[in-house]
Amino acid sequence: MPAISCSAPGKIILCGEHAVVYGTPAIAVPVFQVSSTTRVFANPSNPESGVWISAPAIQLETSLSTLSPLHPLAATARLVIEKLNIHSIPACRIKVSSTIPTSAGLGSSASVSVSFVRALSTFLGHPLDDEMVNQIAFEIEKIHHKSPSGIDNTVVTFQHPVYFQIGKKVQILKVAQPFTIVIADSGLKSSTGDVVSGVRERWLSSKTFYDSCFDEIGKITNQIRETLEYGRIEHIGSYLVKNHELLKQIGVSIPALDHLVEVAMLNGALGAKLSGSGGGGNMIALVNEDTSESVSEALKSSGAVNTIITHIS
Ligand code: PMV
Repeated sequence: MPAISCSAPGKIILCGEHAVVYGTPAIAVPVFQVSSTTRVFANPSNPESGVWISAPAIQLETSLSTLSPLHPLAATARLVIEKLNIHSIPACRIKVSSTIPTSAGLGSSASVSVSFVRALSTFLGHPLDDEMVNQIAFEIEKIHHKSPSGIDNTVVTFQHPVYFQIGKKVQILKVAQPFTIVIADSGLKSSTGDVVSGVRERWLSSKTFYDSCFDEIGKITNQIRETLEYGRIEHIGSYLVKNHELLKQIGVSIPALDHLVEVAMLNGALGAKLSGSGGGGNMIALVNEDTSESVSEALKSSGAVNTIITHIS
């Protein structure tokens, strides 16, 4: 019987990705159809056995003491015990599982960090609060993605739509009118850190152009925020399309994602864009509830390897 089990959702970025790294706001929402779960099983009958970690999805089966301190799970465990100011973890087996595809913009690494921190700190008798969980998950995101903005760990920690801007207190968004998104996976893996580094290199050599794109994306994010809060959901579609165009201009889209965006629009979506770092991964389409199935089917028959229909409220 697991002593402790904690889960955390995946996420999508509705608007503002990449520009958010340069200080403009972005909006992200949790996706509960996919999740990570960390279970901790106590092993009191064998106190010398130490801490055993298994994560079958990444073929990890090892004792914590032999894991490199730079491994994200080892670093997470270290940060938890540092925050709790304890010296060691009692003998236990920690099992990490996840249904979130990796390197696809759905927040897999942030979700694993959040479920791991919550499960381990609860097992140790001192469940960390959201602020602490978020701080630790952000540190681990830096190992995974070099220089992340922190939006992924924030939305996954708070599990609500968030309006996020670096250096500002996160704002939980109240969505006036629930809406439906189809998420479609291009099936192409992409490294967030590499795509973000590529944008930085291009920004360094064409700052004026890139800064004006980031400004435009920031404005779109604010327009979407207002629209979400005042319940004029149908207006969001055109903002998503503009956001996708700007993401194309900064060089993070790929033909497979552009194609899926086009297919969604031709099949009645109100708007569509890539979501996350781009270079592969997922796109999202805003749909009416009655078109969600047909848009999803059209995306699957046009190359998407998987789709998720999610309702945001
Ligand atoms: O983890 P992804 O692929 O959803 O990308 C995160 C969004 C970026 O803006 C591209 C990077 C960041 O850290 O904000």
